[in-house]
Amino acid sequence: MRATRTLPLAITVTLALTACGGSALSGGGGDGGSGDDSKVKIALLVPQSGVYAPLGKDMEAGFRLYLDQNDNKLGGKDVELTVVDEGAGPEDGVPAGTKLAQDESVDAVVGIVNSAVALGLTDSFTEAKKPLIITNAGANDITGKSSSPYVWRTSFANGEVGEAIGGHVAKEVGDGKVYLVGPDYAAGDEFLAGFKKSFVAAGGQIAGTQMTPFGKTTNFQPYLQKARNAKPKAVFAFYAGAEAVTFVKQYDQLGLREDIPFYATGFLTEGGALTAQGKSAEGIFTSLHYSSELDNPTNATFVKEYTAANEVPPTVYSMQTYDAGAVLDKALTKGTGGDQIVEGLKATGEVDSPRGPWSFSDKQGPDQTYYLRKVEKKGDAWTNVIEDELTKPSS
Ligand code: BEZ
Repeated sequence: MRATRTLPLAITVTLALTACGGSALSGGGGDGGSGDDSKVKIALLVPQSGVYAPLGKDMEAGFRLYLDQNDNKLGGKDVELTVVDEGAGPEDGVPAGTKLAQDESVDAVVGIVNSAVALGLTDSFTEAKKPLIITNAGANDITGKSSSPYVWRTSFANGEVGEAIGGHVAKEVGDGKVYLVGPDYAAGDEFLAGFKKSFVAAGGQIAGTQMTPFGKTTNFQPYLQKARNAKPKAVFAFYAGAEAVTFVKQYDQLGLREDIPFYATGFLTEGGALTAQGKSAEGIFTSLHYSSELDNPTNATFVKEYTAANEVPPTVYSMQTYDAGAVLDKALTKGTGGDQIVEGLKATGEVDSPRGPWSFSDKQGPDQTYYLRKVEKKGDAWTNVIEDELTKPSS
């Protein structure tokens, strides 16, 4: 009798562990982070230093709003949130992210602004079988040739944002040429290449291209002078965060705003950057999949509650990370193991987002609408007014 009692106890323990989706057996991202299925530990990897630090702040505020609205639970599990600094670029962000991929107490990682950081981390997350939800970095390969079952994105692919506006600008400038400018790293290259693809296909011509050292350029005047000398009919740029503020102010100070129409990806005039640019940004046209001005009921609630909590309206960065909360809320109902979360992500379906409804494409990034926006003053505040829907990018 004794022997038969001992044996069922061992079997019971094994069965209980198996019923937890193997989470307590394997620990860590492979199949189970904390090993306690009533709780989930999420790490938010966002810049708290460098030119993209303001973007990191918006991302954290977006994720925290989702948690606040949902009793600090995702998939019915209590969330332990840890926020880790992505730093100024891959030299900081890749080691910080690799540590999180290997940390067995962390169930999933959310965030990342910089394309070069994201590109440097996909292998570590794939090896650790730990879900990574990228909520900004747009490197094309993440949802292209470097795609991984464990890496998902709620933001955009860089090429798409540039490509969305190229055809429109070609129509606006007619037989005039456009000058391209952006920071010299993966994202700068891809935004400009995406623009060029649809612009040239629509008959547009390039007056010249200038890449500026990323994260250390504070004097854009020599580059702006080169742009002016090329006598373009318009300029197209990608900059974000602190670089966007400096670039737009110096564009205006050099008198280019009056002479040369300015088009850009929408990151140029988002949130705190636009507030700091003020009148220097007036009339800039941008492409993006979000504006706090979008007229839909989900966005109205999001803008109201985000503004009440943070005293400023949300940005694309806040919205993309808020949506990661919504996506994980559904996915975590399947369990906290890496493969369980991935199964949940595959079953996401339509996300009722402030940007409008979207779903994951088979490349694990959003299938979404891009808008043409224009900077205008509304009351006391500068804002990105929606002008039109843009042509759907092909890539
Ligand atoms: C990027 O590196 O992918 C990126 C950074 C800031 C804004 C948009 C994209």
